[in-house]
Amino acid sequence: MNPLDEVRSSWASLASEINAADETKLVELRSRFLGKKGEIPGLMRHLGSLSADEKPVYGAAVQALRQEVESTLDRLQEQLRSAALKARLESERLDLTLPGDRSEAGTLHPLVALRDEILDLFTGMGFEIADAPEIDTEWFNFSALNVADDHPARDMQDTFFLSRERGEDSLVLRTHTSNYQPHAMRDRKPPFRLLSCGQVYRCDSDATHSPVFTQVEGLVLDKGISFSHLKATIYTMVRALYGEGAVLRFRPSFFPFTEPSAEMDVDCRSVGLDRDGWMEIGGCGMVHPNVLTNSGVDPEEFQGFAFGFGLDRMAMLRHGIKDIGLLTAGDMRFLRQFKGLA
Ligand code: PHE
Repeated sequence: MNPLDEVRSSWASLASEINAADETKLVELRSRFLGKKGEIPGLMRHLGSLSADEKPVYGAAVQALRQEVESTLDRLQEQLRSAALKARLESERLDLTLPGDRSEAGTLHPLVALRDEILDLFTGMGFEIADAPEIDTEWFNFSALNVADDHPARDMQDTFFLSRERGEDSLVLRTHTSNYQPHAMRDRKPPFRLLSCGQVYRCDSDATHSPVFTQVEGLVLDKGISFSHLKATIYTMVRALYGEGAVLRFRPSFFPFTEPSAEMDVDCRSVGLDRDGWMEIGGCGMVHPNVLTNSGVDPEEFQGFAFGFGLDRMAMLRHGIKDIGLLTAGDMRFLRQFKGLA
């Protein structure tokens, strides 16, 4: 057999292998037959031994074989490429009719929704919103507010102390937002109307008391402020939150930092709760002259009122919640009820 026929038949004998070739096999075949040192270019070496008549015939035959091999390999390569593309498109196909993953929209926590509503309301009455630290000194939390050193509120049972030593500069978790009052009086000059809202901490826990809860504190200082201003402000707030029919009362009480002092209660039935009795919302009163003096305000010149209400209690009243702990428990079964709050 001449070399040309040898190459031709070795190519032909590979037919089944060629048709089933994968990418690597194709590369291998291409280099075996068509590569620089491959079998077909190798055939040209025999040209020299041929007669002038045979040369063109031989050359044309080698060329024809090269073209056949080349086009077969090109065609197979193209087939492999389009099969791979088809498989990829197949696997990446998007089924637009599949139901999507529904991501649940969040909602405001009832305390946050109520806080925002109250802040809006007081901003509308000309109050400025301000803040005080949750970790504060005994001076700001107690002494400046006329709370004597031996007052029961300072007791271990009520206060979370953060320092080993006791003293004016030692740190506590604030037990009320009233720590805000001396900060405000030292940081700015009266007259002012301020509202502060934040978390407070007490060693206390049952259905209506929580170790951490939120208070809303108001402080107004100006000339000629009286208890009527306090009452009018609180009536406005309660009626805006619970409706015109809301019934409230001021009960005489005692706080070292206000004189006179009162506690404010709301009638549960009057705000639509299915329950008799009053819900205590918080304390209020006229700022005690000692508190003004302690922070450098002249009580002869300025008077004021303050109030500190429990936001959690107000939320309980609003939604008929019986256990205050639910408001901070993070239980989705409870929280899902408030989906409508925006
Ligand atoms: N700080 C008081 C409390 O936590 C409430 C209060 C605030 C009373 C302002 C009078 C004036 O109970």
